[in-house]
Amino acid sequence: MAARRHRTRTSAWARVPHARAPAARRRAARAPPVTGLTLRAVEQRDVERVGDLNFVAFYRVALAHGLQPGIASPAESRGYIRHLLTIDPLGGTLAEDEGEVVGLAWVHPRGPVATIGPIAVDPRVQGRGIGRRLLERAVELAGRGVPQVRLVHESFNGQALGLYLHAGFRVVAPLLDLELPAGTAVAPAPAPRTVVVRPAVADDRARLVARDARVFGAPRPQNVDLYLGRGRALVAESPTALVGYALGIGFRGTGYLGSASADDPALLLALVVALAAELASHGVTVRTLVPATDRRLVEGLTAAGFRVFRACHYMVRGGGTAPPANYVLMNGDMM
Ligand SMILES: CC(C)(COP(=O)(O)OP(=O)(O)OC[C@H]1O[C@@H](n2cnc3c(N)ncnc32)[C@H](O)[C@@H]1OP(=O)(O)O)[C@@H](O)C(=O)NCCC(=O)NCCS
Repeated sequence: MAARRHRTRTSAWARVPHARAPAARRRAARAPPVTGLTLRAVEQRDVERVGDLNFVAFYRVALAHGLQPGIASPAESRGYIRHLLTIDPLGGTLAEDEGEVVGLAWVHPRGPVATIGPIAVDPRVQGRGIGRRLLERAVELAGRGVPQVRLVHESFNGQALGLYLHAGFRVVAPLLDLELPAGTAVAPAPAPRTVVVRPAVADDRARLVARDARVFGAPRPQNVDLYLGRGRALVAESPTALVGYALGIGFRGTGYLGSASADDPALLLALVVALAAELASHGVTVRTLVPATDRRLVEGLTAAGFRVFRACHYMVRGGGTAPPANYVLMNGDMM
């Protein structure tokens, strides 16, 4: 019903011709066609325009729902687009209408798993099929036959949920985006006695990449390297086997904690709390994305001072199930 209302209200299928839109629907559309809509790869020269569009789209949807925006400024958003161009230079697509950037989408292909995000459309032209085309392009770029495409969706956002459901994604798990205010003094959570927790060193890289690949579903060494090089990483050993790890990184006042995983739920909590305490003591607000159904982790983190920032959905297209047990997702569209 909502979808039908939306379609009628935005009746712009002729404006943005769509491969799968039935001809009758296209003919029935009333809005003038978008004559110049093109999709192309995002390049360095697009950083400002794409960053600003990303900021405006996300800022507006958060404010419309009375929520604090996840991206605080255009500068932060531009920085994020620069980061995406570094880590996945071929993953970005922008939509242009007569030379003006009106949308963007990013895909992160990692062999059998691809993740998608961000995706955003200029608020002035939302509801006209541009998001759908960008999402389809992102799925195409993930590669034909990639077994699983994932994304994290903010639960409050009905428009985005409609987009994803219509494109064949399904909700497989509820998530919580938790936040620990900067400077919070955090009491440590005890690790099992037989385990030694220490900062990761360069020699841990291969084991970290392998362990992360097991829980994520595919190797992503470039992401692990980012955290090892510019962020913080803890490893847990018992006695010499790697039984857990936690990665975190701070950008302009916000720290992102994850991925993290451990053989044992108590150890996972200990690792996450230890890394969160370290990041918070450096003056960053820490965010982390955890399975909402992991009661022990959620209760442990809220007891440590985390509060709920957002409720989210973990969505997949293709095969694949909920995230594995004792796993904290990597933030920043790399879940
Ligand atoms: C989410 C967003 C990218 C969608 O882009 P868009 O161009 O407005 O979306 P489209 O016009 O392509 O609509 C896509 C589909 O969603 C459907 N849809 C939209 N709103 C809906 C709703 N409330 N309920 C159900 N379906 C809905 C449309 O009917 C359409 O499906 P169809 O092609 O089968 O008819 C855009 O609204 C946006 O930028 N929002 C702010 C940023 C954001 O929230 N990004 C996603 C974060 S999770």
